[in-house]
Amino acid sequence: MKSAKKDLLGIEELSTDEIGFILDTADSMKEISLRDIKKVPTLRGKTVVHFFHEPSTRTKTSFEIAAKRLSADAVSISASTSSIVKGETLIDTARNLEAMNPDVVVIRHQASGSAQMIANRIRASVINAGDGMHAHPTQALLDMMTVREKKKTLSGLKIVIAGDIAHSRVARSNIIGFTRMGSDVVVAGPPTMIPMDIESVGATVTYSIEDAARKADVIMILRIQKERMDDFLFPSNREYASFFGLTHKAVSKARKNVVIMHPGPINRGVEIPPEIADGSRSVILDQVENGVAVRMAVLYLLIGGSRHASDN
Ligand code: CP
Repeated sequence: MKSAKKDLLGIEELSTDEIGFILDTADSMKEISLRDIKKVPTLRGKTVVHFFHEPSTRTKTSFEIAAKRLSADAVSISASTSSIVKGETLIDTARNLEAMNPDVVVIRHQASGSAQMIANRIRASVINAGDGMHAHPTQALLDMMTVREKKKTLSGLKIVIAGDIAHSRVARSNIIGFTRMGSDVVVAGPPTMIPMDIESVGATVTYSIEDAARKADVIMILRIQKERMDDFLFPSNREYASFFGLTHKAVSKARKNVVIMHPGPINRGVEIPPEIADGSRSVILDQVENGVAVRMAVLYLLIGGSRHASDN
């Protein structure tokens, strides 16, 4: 099975069936990571370039592990160790990478639209690993995989996404993904951090996390993205934690089996208290584990052959 698509740039380009198929494929990929020998030959002879222009722990490492578990040759470059520091443009960098005939370029960049710009200019598949405030499709896929695993469905669930919605590519991709799969998404956060047009992508808005949490099946807390703010949007971390951080009271209003998510990295004690982040309802590390499986699935479906990977 090979996807008809060349690239994965945003969740909006995927139909309900395509999202379901990626999640099914990721479910079977997950088993490979539980074997003693965590390697199948599915992508032998393929080359994956990871080009990360912004810091990353989870996405970069899990993409590299995913490529290696499928036997692809994986190389990584970062902005600070590339010729970008000498003034080379992003497009020139991409064209030079293209000249080495990779099969996939996985790119993270601080500019919204950068992944699309590269995809328009090179023959290799491009996977968007996060572009500015715009999109983070594989994060949304791993979040949907985690929720489906815990709740057995995505349809009819109440998903609360709380925190810095305005600067979050994770929020935008998750709102589109979860609503497409039949969930109801409610966003909550300070008015300065909720974009005016967020309802146009399918979310309902409230400014109180306790109101939002009522009967929630999932509460996903987001990090304050100070690196994307031009101005102070809240007075201090302490005030943010008091007024907009996740509280035990908010969790108590949710359904008993609510799951608590966070894409990471966490600001402990700011948007989420450590005892909730590490508590029994938290699935934060399940999200990270599923990140490897989802990225294996996406690489396989974009550049793999006709066999099912777990048959190897
Ligand atoms: N969730 C996420 O994108 O984390 P990293 O920035 O560490 O990749």
